[in-house]
Amino acid sequence: MPSPPLPAVCDAVLLSEEQIRRRVTELGETITREYEGHDLRLVTVLRGGIVFLADLVREIDLPLHLDFMAVSPYSPGRGGVVRVTKDLDEDIAGTSVVLVEDVIDTGLTVNYILKLLRAHGPRSLEVCALLDKDVRRIADVPIAHLGFAIPDHFVIGYGLDLQGRYRNLPYIATLKEEVLRSR
Ligand code: IMP
Ligand code: MG
Repeated sequence: MPSPPLPAVCDAVLLSEEQIRRRVTELGETITREYEGHDLRLVTVLRGGIVFLADLVREIDLPLHLDFMAVSPYSPGRGGVVRVTKDLDEDIAGTSVVLVEDVIDTGLTVNYILKLLRAHGPRSLEVCALLDKDVRRIADVPIAHLGFAIPDHFVIGYGLDLQGRYRNLPYIATLKEEVLRSR
């Protein structure tokens, strides 16, 4: 029995708190090794990525800056074009940027954000994603640092939401089929 207990909308725990913790520690160690001596900026897209970001930064033993963007889809369900509702606060020109994302699904959102970030002239730009659902990929996204490749299931918890809820679950769980169908 997971703690807190699995919400009724969930089918099963896909990734436990312990599994996530171990992997996030490894990712932090890798980033620490690879970005030593760089002007490191972690950029996260609100809001799904913040739980992952909060744990990840505490596993990175380097000076770094955090910045945030927020986007909203222009037309829900028809990805590709997103509207920026909150832009970066700091200039990233010449810095080493790691874009931290919760999940790469079709890849359209990240692909668009990468284009925007590239236009600011960073020295380097890499993606660190907790989850990759590559069977649904439309836009090719290079993921330099990946937590877990997962099957094509809608998941919630650890920052990921279902209509705004369940972001605070400490584990990642799959939704029941009937909940998915009624969405
Ligand atoms: P895409 O890669 O452009 O299709 O969209 C990725 C975004 O869709 C993520 O940042 C999430 O906000 C959302 N998303 C995709 N899959 C899931 C999921 O399984 N659970 C919760 N949100 C998801
Ligand atoms: Mg998101």
